[in-house]
Amino acid sequence: MDSLVNSLAQHADWAYLVGAVLFILTLRGLSGPKTAIMGNRYGMIGMALAIATTFFVAPSPALGLIVGAMVLGAIIGIHRARTVPMTQMPETVAMMHSLVGLAAVLIAIAAVFNPDFSKDGVHRFELFVGCFVGAVTFTASVIAWGKLSAKLGAKPLKGAWVKPVQAALFLAMIGFGVHYFVTESVSSFLIMTAIALVFGYFWIAPIGGGDMPVVVSLLNSLSGWAAAGIGFTLSNSMLIIAGSLVGSSGAILSYIMCKAMNRSLLNVLFGGFGTASAAAGGEGDGKEKNYKSGSAEDAAFMMANADSVVIVPGYGLAQARAQNAVKELATVLKEQGVTVRYAIHPVAGRMPGHMNVLLAEADVPYEDVCEMEEINSDFASTDVVLVIGANDVVNPAAKDDPSSPIYGMPILEAHRARTVMVIKRSMAAGYAGLDNDLFYMDKSMMIFGDAKKVLEDMVKGVTGGGH
Ligand code: TAP
Repeated sequence: MDSLVNSLAQHADWAYLVGAVLFILTLRGLSGPKTAIMGNRYGMIGMALAIATTFFVAPSPALGLIVGAMVLGAIIGIHRARTVPMTQMPETVAMMHSLVGLAAVLIAIAAVFNPDFSKDGVHRFELFVGCFVGAVTFTASVIAWGKLSAKLGAKPLKGAWVKPVQAALFLAMIGFGVHYFVTESVSSFLIMTAIALVFGYFWIAPIGGGDMPVVVSLLNSLSGWAAAGIGFTLSNSMLIIAGSLVGSSGAILSYIMCKAMNRSLLNVLFGGFGTASAAAGGEGDGKEKNYKSGSAEDAAFMMANADSVVIVPGYGLAQARAQNAVKELATVLKEQGVTVRYAIHPVAGRMPGHMNVLLAEADVPYEDVCEMEEINSDFASTDVVLVIGANDVVNPAAKDDPSSPIYGMPILEAHRARTVMVIKRSMAAGYAGLDNDLFYMDKSMMIFGDAKKVLEDMVKGVTGGGH
């Protein structure tokens, strides 16, 4: 038995290498809906291999404590995974990042207090960076969780004093960290950690609730770098690789989200229209504008008599939990001989892939779901576009109005279709708080009501009439 354990410990690097390849395959798999399940499986195998191997390389693992903690974690994790509604995913992810940050802080503190742990310059530097990144990630993720789950006010912390306080805390945190690095003073290390925890709060509290998804993705990246830093501390190559993968993929995702919103990361982090999202009152130019409204039955009649319908889902679809109703509508329209496809904007909804996940939940066929670049050129030849609870992602101001805050943001060009129907509850603005000229075009018709109810009425309308 001992020789088996020794040989496994000697070959740990090979096991870690296989684990790292599996993690890379996981990310590759998760990049498309068809391969996502396989990607998840690679991740599970890679993680199991990494955990099992770590037992063999750890010098004298406290087996009872570790296994006990893992079983407890697994019970909580399985329960949460089974019960969390899709709409609560962003805050759940934020909560998980906070745990990664906390783990990094606890490991760093344990290493600082461990007399057997080497404290040469490189290790002190890793401890300093890993611990403050972990501490900032921890508090910032808890605040992001609170804002997203409406347990803390989504209202941003405001005032001229906020930025100087942020700067003072940041400089103090770095100052005490450098003092630890130079003098090995444990109290400086602990003060740095405490300041980093407070800084995490002051960093995130000024950001509006609506911008939290970008912040969560950035925290995802930070939690990865914190884990990689601790991987250096523990000389664990698996943790370094996994942390770097999480760190870089989170950074790439934050960049993609900012690009799709036509904003810079600095604009998201240090103020912008996300802070005004809750108000969402509409910007309007003061002029009275006219719009047409119709009933679900009118709309159903027009769609059933069209050749092609493109459905544009947005945040309202998620809000109304109308994914099954929209699938039902597409099915009955197809039965009438109508070609039905879905057009997905990269930042429709409130989290990356939000619409894809909802449609997948309702078993919408993947081949019917088109990305923005794929479908934009088809709108001009589309009979009817049905916009469901989407607003900013179809706002033509992003293309035509250089004075608009969203000018330059790529949009789904629904305004080019022959007829546009929009399901929403009122004329209220969306996330960016802007009015939308699409709703006032001659070819547009508003169908007011909760998306789920309207879609159900449309299904009844289609099955009652048609070609
Ligand atoms: P929004 O522009 O936010 O518009 C959603 C619309 O849905 C609202 O105008 C609202 O109008 C309607 N709505 C809400 N609940 C509804 C319900 N139950 N039934 C029917 N309609 C309902 O959404 P979008 O077009 O999906 O654009 C997303 C926005 O979020 C973009 O500005 C994007 O930059 C931002 N954002 C996205 C992400 C990611 S990663 N997806 C992250 C951060 C920010 P009524 O109130 O009149 O019903």
